[in-house]
Amino acid sequence: MKTFLSLLALAATLCQCQIDISCSPSNLSCLENRTRADQALMELPNFVTYPIQDDAFYSTPANFTQAKPGQIVKLEVLTNVTAYDVPPGTSLSRFMYASVDDKNQTVPATGIILWPFTPKTFPYNPLGTAGETKYPLVAWAHGTSGVVRQCAVSNLQNLQYDFRSVFTLANVGYAVVLSDYAGLGTDVPFNYLAYKLHANDVVYSVAAAQSVFPELSAEWVSFGHSEGGGVAWAVGERQSTSPIPGFLGTVAAAPPPFPIATTSNVSNSVFQAFLSFTISHLYGLDLASIFKPVPLQALQYVESIGGCNDAGYAAFATFNASDIYSNVSWPMSQPAVDFAAEYSVSGKPLGGPLLIVQGSADTVVGTVGAMAGYNATCALRENAGVSVQYVSVNDQDHNPSLYASQRFWLQWIEDRFNRLPLQEGCSMANLSSVRPVGSVQLAERFLVEYEKPWVTIFSATFLPSWLWKLDLGYAQGTS
Ligand SMILES: *[C@@H]1O[C@H](CO)[C@@H](O)[C@H](O)[C@H]1NC(C)=O
Ligand SMILES: *[C@@H]1O[C@H](CO)[C@@H](O)[C@H](O)[C@H]1NC(C)=O
Ligand SMILES: *[C@@H]1O[C@H](CO)[C@@H](O)[C@H](O)[C@H]1NC(C)=O
Ligand SMILES: *[C@@H]1O[C@H](CO)[C@@H](O)[C@H](O)[C@H]1NC(C)=O
Ligand SMILES: *[C@@H]1O[C@H](CO)[C@@H](O)[C@H](O)[C@H]1NC(C)=O
Ligand SMILES: *[C@@H]1O[C@H](CO)[C@@H](O)[C@H](O)[C@H]1NC(C)=O
Ligand SMILES: *[C@@H]1O[C@H](CO)[C@@H](O)[C@H](O)[C@H]1NC(C)=O
Ligand SMILES: *[C@@H]1O[C@H](CO)[C@@H](O)[C@H](O)[C@H]1NC(C)=O
Ligand SMILES: *[C@@H]1O[C@H](CO)[C@@H](O)[C@H](O)[C@H]1NC(C)=O
Ligand SMILES: *[C@@H]1O[C@H](CO)[C@@H](O)[C@H](O)[C@H]1NC(C)=O
Repeated sequence: MKTFLSLLALAATLCQCQIDISCSPSNLSCLENRTRADQALMELPNFVTYPIQDDAFYSTPANFTQAKPGQIVKLEVLTNVTAYDVPPGTSLSRFMYASVDDKNQTVPATGIILWPFTPKTFPYNPLGTAGETKYPLVAWAHGTSGVVRQCAVSNLQNLQYDFRSVFTLANVGYAVVLSDYAGLGTDVPFNYLAYKLHANDVVYSVAAAQSVFPELSAEWVSFGHSEGGGVAWAVGERQSTSPIPGFLGTVAAAPPPFPIATTSNVSNSVFQAFLSFTISHLYGLDLASIFKPVPLQALQYVESIGGCNDAGYAAFATFNASDIYSNVSWPMSQPAVDFAAEYSVSGKPLGGPLLIVQGSADTVVGTVGAMAGYNATCALRENAGVSVQYVSVNDQDHNPSLYASQRFWLQWIEDRFNRLPLQEGCSMANLSSVRPVGSVQLAERFLVEYEKPWVTIFSATFLPSWLWKLDLGYAQGTS
């Protein structure tokens, strides 16, 4: 409980006056103060290194330009686990490798492998040859963590998802390869929600990891949640056009296939504000013409101090869209429309089976997008021979749905390694508890030695009630 309790104590005595929920949207120093205070409370305790630039591992070597996609450029075989909150028995390796960007140029990306104590074995299809132990590989695609280098998940003590996914996978014997995505960790632009670029990063992280760790299985499953659900979907699509060997299938949990809805006005969600930075970078959206000056400066301030999701929420807190933007219609602009056309997933051929896991009470990405993406993917003749399953996790929210469906996705992954056949084509199923509504837990109420920022924001009830006000207004889904 090291940092958390002391922080709460600090919060209770000091931060109440520092986190000023009533800042006016035109008062930059107030917003900067609030952002710093939130970062100190919610984010700093979970970083391995702050600022990340202090860790030479994340700096790109001078000869990087000679690297080919999937090539390792840096390898830390035995990462010191003391700084991490990973489960007993697990270990870590970090690596830097080459991926490719939107122009097919080579870009540096970092990743981390969470190794289980002992590898899972498969009775029907033993991995490896006699006498050789292979670690079955799951490529994890992480959800939104922020948009600057500091927000690399390999630099988070809980690897961001802890027992929601990656710790659970390692504890049952999978080696989990986590890509940070190029631009989180490395010193290149990060294109938030540009799924197919992050899919490049995931696929090349698999190839890179396999090239230096022959004990990893040749076969692999990809799995992601939220932003990473979109990435996992994009990995399935990439495998149809530019496959790398060994792909067994992909799990897209709580995916928003359409990163932006181009027929509605922008909301007050900081994620949409983060996304405007991507569209500005890739399609020239003019930020100065859509933002009001102070909110834009506040978001740039968040970036300048290495602020991630929570610091972003703190910047905007209770503001409405008109407080933040001078033009709330910017999602209908040509740059946004072009981005959506190029970077949405679904409606494309898949290179292997897809499992969609979606909480029916998801307040973060909603259910409509995942369902529309499922429909579009199933409507495609080329996908008639592929298994696409949509599993609704009844009454569970964005993060809780991962716990409630854990048994199901673990079994699905195991079945892929066992080469069990799947029924071709599309199907839907519900996971629901037969126990009465109201008796089923909905929130993540436990802590694991660190704070879980997303969780404290969305669903945790363990914080003192005055801190609930810091439920800083993440808004409705975008699709
Ligand atoms: C800006 O907010 C600070 C509190 O952080 C307050 O002291 C100051 O008076 C505000 N400035 C204006 C112009 O409202
Ligand atoms: C900013 O926060 C500090 C405490 O962290 C406080 O002393 C100071 O008055 C605040 N400044 C403004 C302008 O709100
Ligand atoms: C860069 O240099 C290092 C050290 O000399 C070497 O090990 C590595 O293979 C080189 N990388 C590339 C991509 O050429
Ligand atoms: C691992 O890190 C801890 C704390 O940062 C440090 O005390 C220890 O010496 C390190 N171990 C090694 C082998 O470097
Ligand atoms: C990207 O570059 C590689 C060489 O690194 C080339 O083989 C490939 O065809 C290019 N792909 C596209 C889409 O241009
Ligand atoms: C978007 O906002 C503009 C300006 O406030 C308003 O005129 C328009 O009706 C809104 N459009 C939609 C689709 O909500
Ligand atoms: C947004 O909030 C401001 C107060 O910050 C208020 O004056 C304005 O009417 C609100 N606008 C909308 C569209 O709700
Ligand atoms: C706001 O953005 C929309 C979409 O690009 C554009 O059509 C509209 O003219 C802009 N409004 C203003 C006032 O600039
Ligand atoms: C998906 O398809 C089903 C069956 O055709 C339809 O009922 C549903 O409205 C569609 N949902 C979306 C979001 O497109
Ligand atoms: C899942 O549950 C929903 C809501 O109760 C229901 O409308 C739907 O038909 C169910 N789907 C299946 C495949 O059982």
